[in-house]
Amino acid sequence: MKPVILDVDTGIDDALAIAYALNSPELEILGLTTCFGNGPVEKTTRNTLVVLEQLGKSVPVYPGADKPLSRPPKKFPTHIHGEDGLGNRVAKSPVMEAESESAVDYIINQVKQRPNEITIIAVGPLTNLAHAVKKDPEIVSLVKEVVIMGGAVFIKGNVTPYSEANIFTDPHAAECVFSSGLPVTLVGLDVTMKTLLPNTILADWRATGREVSDFFADMTSFYMHAYETFHPGIGGCALHDPLAVGVVVDPSFIKKETWNVKVFLEGEEMGRTVAQAEGEPKIQVCTRVEADRFLNHFLNRLF
Ligand code: RIB
Ligand code: CA
Repeated sequence: MKPVILDVDTGIDDALAIAYALNSPELEILGLTTCFGNGPVEKTTRNTLVVLEQLGKSVPVYPGADKPLSRPPKKFPTHIHGEDGLGNRVAKSPVMEAESESAVDYIINQVKQRPNEITIIAVGPLTNLAHAVKKDPEIVSLVKEVVIMGGAVFIKGNVTPYSEANIFTDPHAAECVFSSGLPVTLVGLDVTMKTLLPNTILADWRATGREVSDFFADMTSFYMHAYETFHPGIGGCALHDPLAVGVVVDPSFIKKETWNVKVFLEGEEMGRTVAQAEGEPKIQVCTRVEADRFLNHFLNRLF
């Protein structure tokens, strides 16, 4: 089993990623760390606990960053994830509570306790990881791997023509992480936009008659409606965050190329991730994915 810290900004596709990760026997999910992103951090932390309760799982949750390193905070994407961040499906407060240790300290402590063992899967803005590297640079050589859902290296962005949402939300954190020397694999829109969950699947989920399946179907339906607005005729939604989990569960789902990836920090192109010919190539960029094989694997594991 691979020991994993999953860093989330829960979020509908984060919720799908949490379910997939916790139902994958290849992974030992040590803890979930939360960041602002799809909502304020209080909400993404609450949502993470709500999702765990729906899944009947108990994993410690560590609250993290509430704002970007340098840029002014951007508006939360309620049109994509709902007012509550989970498709307006949160009916009650969770019983479980978050831990008192911060996400940043938890990451540092775990990595130092288990040198060269821990994989960090980050599917939100990279603010927690950037703070951890700044606070204790020693962790850079002690993390086994960092798999990030973020960026759009060879295709256009999803929040601006240039930038993907997680990187746009905190580009300075992304630049800090990319240039830190951490062993980064980038699971960007280059591959996640090819892993589409078809909207026909929701009827199958509902047909199970289980509360958890209904919860996920309602939430995912909201996300799919948002997708249809931006991509008329798409017939589903992209599995961004679940693919980052899939890449750790079974790396053969994707093909990678190593590049020097620069992050644009200001202006119209802020948040853009560009593969540069010059400079040391050190970021593993996912460029191809076996989408059907991944989708089947994800669906067989979800509940
Ligand atoms: O661009 C996709 C990413 O941004 C995902 O992590 C999703 O949760 C969204 O916020
Ligand atoms: Ca996310």
